Amino acid sequence: MSDNLEIAWVDPFDDATFDVWHEVYATSQRFGREETAAVWTLEELRVQMQHQGTGRWAGAYLGRVAGTAVASGFVMMSLVDNLDRTSLWVDVLPERRRRGHGSAMLDHVLDVAREKGRSIIATEASWSYDAHPEGAGEPGVEFLRAHGFDLGLVEIQRTLRLPVDDALLAELAARAATRHEGYTLRSWVGPVPDELLESWAALSSSLMTEAPVGELDLEPESADVALVREAEDVIAKQGRTKYNTAALDADGVVVAYTDLATAVHDPGKAYQWGTLVRGDHRGHRLGMAVKVANLQQLQALDTTARTVVTWNAEVNSHMIGVNEEIGFRRTERAGAFQRKLV
Ligand SMILES: CC(C)(COP(=O)(O)OP(=O)(O)OC[C@H]1O[C@@H](n2cnc3c(N)ncnc32)[C@H](O)[C@@H]1OP(=O)(O)O)[C@@H](O)C(=O)NCCC(=O)NCCS
Repeated sequence: MSDNLEIAWVDPFDDATFDVWHEVYATSQRFGREETAAVWTLEELRVQMQHQGTGRWAGAYLGRVAGTAVASGFVMMSLVDNLDRTSLWVDVLPERRRRGHGSAMLDHVLDVAREKGRSIIATEASWSYDAHPEGAGEPGVEFLRAHGFDLGLVEIQRTLRLPVDDALLAELAARAATRHEGYTLRSWVGPVPDELLESWAALSSSLMTEAPVGELDLEPESADVALVREAEDVIAKQGRTKYNTAALDADGVVVAYTDLATAVHDPGKAYQWGTLVRGDHRGHRLGMAVKVANLQQLQALDTTARTVVTWNAEVNSHMIGVNEEIGFRRTERAGAFQRKLV
């Protein structure tokens, strides 16, 4: 066991320490996953951590051995829903592993979770698509299993190379259009227009529980419109640009949506965020329609984007079908793990 790891909270306004913390996290995440790791950039995380808003709380922790940084910890929890739950992450520099530092950092962040009254602990580990489907033998997976975490859901990361042939997008859009007469598609960049805000918040906040959740104990997120605006403010400060498409019913209510984001600090990459069709409006190819329209918007406005990365539960066959038709290809797997504190 590690008896020499000194762990301290990282002040996100202390630039030098925050940079070191991020370097440990990013180096660990990229190791062995150089092509596929989705790493939060330094500046995006700095903004996220400096902004302790009403919606969530986050804390960063750095572990040092004799003054040298070797381990990072990160805790993030909602303050408005899922109040018994927290997410946390532990990373150790590749050359410093198997000395108990990961376990020491995990104990520390679990104590933080306990102090904050959280008893359901969520975390993730990712591994190559070609490795064992449930990640057997992978460091993160073995570490989490050794610490009593159960695998709740496996998601597949897929990557789309841009640009997608405009003719293919036009054909997919035209095929879908024959099935969604009576709905209006609306695309925009940045904040949600005021007149769509309420139904956007209602639909997008249900994503976490409407998408497959496997064995995870998740409650619906809060549909508070003020939180949507608060998140948009953070997104702008992070240098992110969000591309959105919604399908509206005859009353102008958002019944399907998709959003993806690029970031000035992560050039060339776009990340798919949510895509959801409201239960009572499924079967009209609205999922395909909003995704294709949003990609057309991205390609028209940002010619520097080279890839879009997305994650879907293995069992989410409908969404996967849409993604495969557009041209997304499997790149890795991500396991969502959970443990209950007693
Ligand atoms: C997972 C990680 C944090 C482990 O850090 P670490 O300092 O090596 O962890 P520890 O030394 O405390 O390992 C504790 C136990 O976990 C298990 N374990 C850790 N790495 C393992 C591996 N590569 N293979 C098999 N078992 C492993 C073992 O049971 C180990 O005990 P042992 O060394 O006595 O056999 C590190 O590999 C890492 O940063 N990986 C990338 C990020 C990640 O996946 N984090 C986990 C999810 S948040």
